[in-house]
Amino acid sequence: MILDHIYEAIIDNVFLRLDELVPGSEVFLKLEGLNPAGSIKLKAALGMVEDAERAGIAGPGDRIIESSSGSLGVALALVAAAKGHPFTCVTDPNTSPHSVALMRALGAEVVEVSRRDANGGFLGTRIAYIRERVAAEPDVVWLNQYANPANPRAHEIYTARAILSEIVRIDYLFIGVGTSGTLMGCLTHFRKHSPATRIVAVDSEGSVTFGFPPKPRYIPGLGTSRKPEICCPDAPDEVILISEADAVRTCRSFAQRGVFVGGSTGSVLAAVAHSAPKIPEDSRVVALSPDFGDRYTHTVYNDDWVTRKFGPEAVSIGELAGQTGR
Ligand SMILES: Cc1ncc(COP(=O)(O)O)c(C=O)c1O
Repeated sequence: MILDHIYEAIIDNVFLRLDELVPGSEVFLKLEGLNPAGSIKLKAALGMVEDAERAGIAGPGDRIIESSSGSLGVALALVAAAKGHPFTCVTDPNTSPHSVALMRALGAEVVEVSRRDANGGFLGTRIAYIRERVAAEPDVVWLNQYANPANPRAHEIYTARAILSEIVRIDYLFIGVGTSGTLMGCLTHFRKHSPATRIVAVDSEGSVTFGFPPKPRYIPGLGTSRKPEICCPDAPDEVILISEADAVRTCRSFAQRGVFVGGSTGSVLAAVAHSAPKIPEDSRVVALSPDFGDRYTHTVYNDDWVTRKFGPEAVSIGELAGQTGR
């Protein structure tokens, strides 16, 4: 395969078999960390930038600005650099230093806000900063991943199609929810082409996306402190909330087996483990892993950080547990 642009290297057909998670069934973990820029967000970044270019909103050399707790920022930094757009990423203290370093290496301007919003997160503060920049600088284009239909469309076109072309007859699909772009794009495609698949949304305790009460969260990727406009909270068949402590324990337990995944993959795998007793035998389960663990060595995989945030019991690798939201 010979490509003209790095962002065309979308790796959408690699799955890891983890049947032991649901005894008597097949479980496949889709490895999105293999994409350039290291996460599933390559597809959302490419979809949103090309949509803005097609619409004439992002002309040659126009600056792109976006709020991201890490992975979309890295993906946009790569796509923007390859296409000749300057890029500003607005981050917060939960963003991993590794992601910030990657964005800077790709030529991005990185701005960190530190004031918490009314819900205890940083999203409101990040968006206020973006609005100020867009008002002051006419050639700055805000992609707004939380409201941009090109975000779910990218997952309808790439992620969902790729899953169904690789794995036939899927009974359960577990998807972590940040902006809900992945969830909503997969829902659109699966409702048309695989309506019997039960779509399970996985969110973090403390996220307000599905109407649950806010509380501080520390792991980037899953969850919001403000409901995303693109999300229809009633659309998934089930919503499972996982505590960040359970996500951490699950990540660390899989790392012991060489499966080194990011924080949100820990939540998704914990949700699959939690659901295992009610999944009928001979089911086929697909779970999405948005990224690998290398951006989480200072957090999820650091004993001191985990002890400070979640207490000493989160460091030990114990039984996996989740909490059903609906
Ligand atoms: C690192 C990371 N990137 C992307 C996603 C997917 O998020 P979105 O809902 O924005 O498509 C998640 C959610 O699981 C994530 O953890």
